[in-house]
Amino acid sequence: MKASEQFMRRLGLKHPIIQAPMAGTSTAELAAAVSSAGGLGSLGMAACSAPQARAMIERTRAQTAAPFNANVFCHQSVPRDPRREQQWLRHLAPLFEQVGAPLPTELKSLYESFLVDGAMFDMLLEQKPAVVSFHFGLPERERVQALRRAGCYTVATATNLQEAARIEAAGVDAIVAQGIEAGGHRGMFDPALPDEALSTAVLVRLLVRQTRLPVIAAGGIMDGCSIRAMLELGAAAAQLGTAFILCPESAASDNYRHNLKSERASHTRLTAVISGRPARGMVNELIAFADAPGRPEADAYPFAYDAAKQLHAAALKLGKQEFAAQWAGQGAPLAREMPAAELVRVLAEELAAC
Ligand SMILES: Cc1cc2nc3c(=O)[nH]c(=O)nc-3n(C[C@H](O)[C@H](O)[C@H](O)COP(=O)(O)O)c2cc1C
Repeated sequence: MKASEQFMRRLGLKHPIIQAPMAGTSTAELAAAVSSAGGLGSLGMAACSAPQARAMIERTRAQTAAPFNANVFCHQSVPRDPRREQQWLRHLAPLFEQVGAPLPTELKSLYESFLVDGAMFDMLLEQKPAVVSFHFGLPERERVQALRRAGCYTVATATNLQEAARIEAAGVDAIVAQGIEAGGHRGMFDPALPDEALSTAVLVRLLVRQTRLPVIAAGGIMDGCSIRAMLELGAAAAQLGTAFILCPESAASDNYRHNLKSERASHTRLTAVISGRPARGMVNELIAFADAPGRPEADAYPFAYDAAKQLHAAALKLGKQEFAAQWAGQGAPLAREMPAAELVRVLAEELAAC
């Protein structure tokens, strides 16, 4: 049996199509619509407390009986580094001045890692979503196994062979092969290590040969023909993020949607200046200024994100949206605007016809 057929049968899907978890952009409505249409919808819970994440799961269950994925971030937390923080804030000072906001004296860690969030783990064990996925690393093996014993299918992101080997050794069920084309945060375990920057196609092919686990292709996949190409390379399914941003069910702002439909969509950049970890988004004034040559090292994740969010909030009060994080992959110009269920249907038709 082909990898995709096995994968769909295991999860009860009609199509080998996963709507990527997108913290802040995906919603319960988006996930429910995709899952009801026979794909796998995903909830991005990285910015949620356990009660907020529970509410998101309940809201999704109220709209679909189909399986869906709950996604958490597993980054290694680093302590604040006041020297690096001050250097970064000094670099951003002209932008704070531009929007009339005081320079923060201290940056906060806005994103608690699942590695230290016991309440989130307990909530997932109790709620048992059909799929639980991990980004930026892995929880300890015992937690992975506890979720699996509870009936959750587990998935983790790899950007290279070494991360994939660690995922397999941890007993996780499937691997997301995230290529350099992908929108949003790169799932690399340790952002301090050199990045091979492998493309989705190369990484999928390497992982299909290296591992016996199902490989889910992610990065730059925007239509059914690209999904077909990934399945031909041996992928079990394709995970699409940017393709779903223009769906009316997403939480994307009007400005984000406008930019994604404009010429700006063809200028994405992978940069750590917004959050402190490499992430791909449409180039705006924040990225252009903060990521200019000769810049100091960005503060660590997620402290740098606090600075960017404060800047965006102050700018928004002036009606300026140039400091927003608008993640998008290299395939962004191919994004289509239609309801999520229709997009799944169109993708499935294209896949069949390709
Ligand atoms: C707006 C946005 C937010 C994202 N947030 C998450 C997230 O919360 N968790 C996660 O595992 N991946 C996240 N990703 C990455 C996706 O899982 C996936 O790797 C990526 O979207 C694939 O590339 P594409 O955008 O070209 O389809 C995000 C991507 C985007 C575009």
